[in-house]
Amino acid sequence: MEKIAIFASGTGSNAQKIIEYFQGHPQIEVSLVVSNKAAAPVLEKATAAGVDTTVITRSSFYGTTALLDELKAKGIRFIVLAGFLWLVPAYLIAAYPQRMVNIHPALLPKFGGKGMYGKHVHQAVKDAGEKESGITIHWVTPEYDEGGIIFQARCPVDASDQPEDIARKVRQLEHEHLAPVVEKLLTERSTTN
Ligand code: GAR
Repeated sequence: MEKIAIFASGTGSNAQKIIEYFQGHPQIEVSLVVSNKAAAPVLEKATAAGVDTTVITRSSFYGTTALLDELKAKGIRFIVLAGFLWLVPAYLIAAYPQRMVNIHPALLPKFGGKGMYGKHVHQAVKDAGEKESGITIHWVTPEYDEGGIIFQARCPVDASDQPEDIARKVRQLEHEHLAPVVEKLLTERSTTN
């Protein structure tokens, strides 16, 4: 089994989709959901689906390897950031080379970087008068939103669209594509690495 951990800070609609997608999958299992917020709805969703959860603090995440130890102990081989807003420290990225992806709710390299998350992204897309937006799935590096792009999908943005309308279209693309892209990355890989 390829065991996945999902890191999420918020609602967790993407985490839920991924969990559902891999339920009963012959090769891939979501084994852990990690959040930096004890009250994040994603934790309840994970627990309801029978997935273990762990809450991290800033000091443990940046100052110790406690989370990495837990990931290793659980046999986690791949990490998906789905609405996780903290920068990932270098020690963790080094432990998961080409094994950690992030989903971003816009077409990178536009509309990325610190502070560009959730509705701020969709507002910026509207303010810029963009005719389209979309999603980007990319490798995680020690900088925000800078890793190599693995996958993008696009949706039209109409002049009358409000940020919430763009958010709805983008979320639909996320829910449709994130789990299958993760599946492809994991199943197309040789079993030896
Ligand atoms: C998603 O739209 C994801 O792309 C975004 O947070 C949302 C989480 O939604 N991530 C970022 O903005 C990262 N910069 P969810 O909690 O319902 O899955």
